[in-house]
Amino acid sequence: MKIFLDTADIAEIRRAAEAGLIDGVTTNPSLLAQVGAGRDPKAIYKEICETVNGPVSAEVIATDKATMLVEGRKLASLHPNIVVKVPLTEDGLKACRTLTSEGIRTNVTLCFSVSQALLAAKAGATFISPFVGRIDDVSGEGMQLVHQIRQVYDNYGFDTEILAASLRHPTHVVESMLLGADAATMPPKVLWQLAKHPLTDNGLAAFLKDWGKLGTTL
Ligand code: E4P
Repeated sequence: MKIFLDTADIAEIRRAAEAGLIDGVTTNPSLLAQVGAGRDPKAIYKEICETVNGPVSAEVIATDKATMLVEGRKLASLHPNIVVKVPLTEDGLKACRTLTSEGIRTNVTLCFSVSQALLAAKAGATFISPFVGRIDDVSGEGMQLVHQIRQVYDNYGFDTEILAASLRHPTHVVESMLLGADAATMPPKVLWQLAKHPLTDNGLAAFLKDWGKLGTTL
């Protein structure tokens, strides 16, 4: 399973990439806004692409197909790692189909239903991004969506990859793995939470205390 970092914060991306823990990055306009005030977003995307050797999702801003294509081609030309993110709308699906036919990889975002995921696969999406946490936020079962998309894609042999998104805590990541998501994107905080366990911390403290009784070093 691929781990993507859901951020545009280059310091956090470097930290995870240097540890060899991430396979790519996802961004969205809100994440860009957190780090990019007064900066050229294209420069931010390039910097991320030069830091991570894997797919980097960059989202179009237009809502009509023609302008989405202009933006998508421009984004794709920035770096071979770029995956063009389009929203799951009628125009987004049409843009996805065209970009795919041009050999440009796509991530269809803001997916909240199996029927939407089906159409994204039919449009040739490279990735589909079901937003788990946002479904949970409105008292839905976000993970159920990942489960159902996995079943539909397997039933019909679609090769669109399921990229579990809007993950808010480690359990979301583990459940995505158990359900067979191809990739999970998570904020830096959640990535590092995956490594944490109080018994690890307690056990290490006890080992070091006992070692201290030896009165020597290695
Ligand atoms: C995915 O590509 C999105 O950038 C992201 O996962 C959305 O997460 P949020 O619902 O926590 O904003």
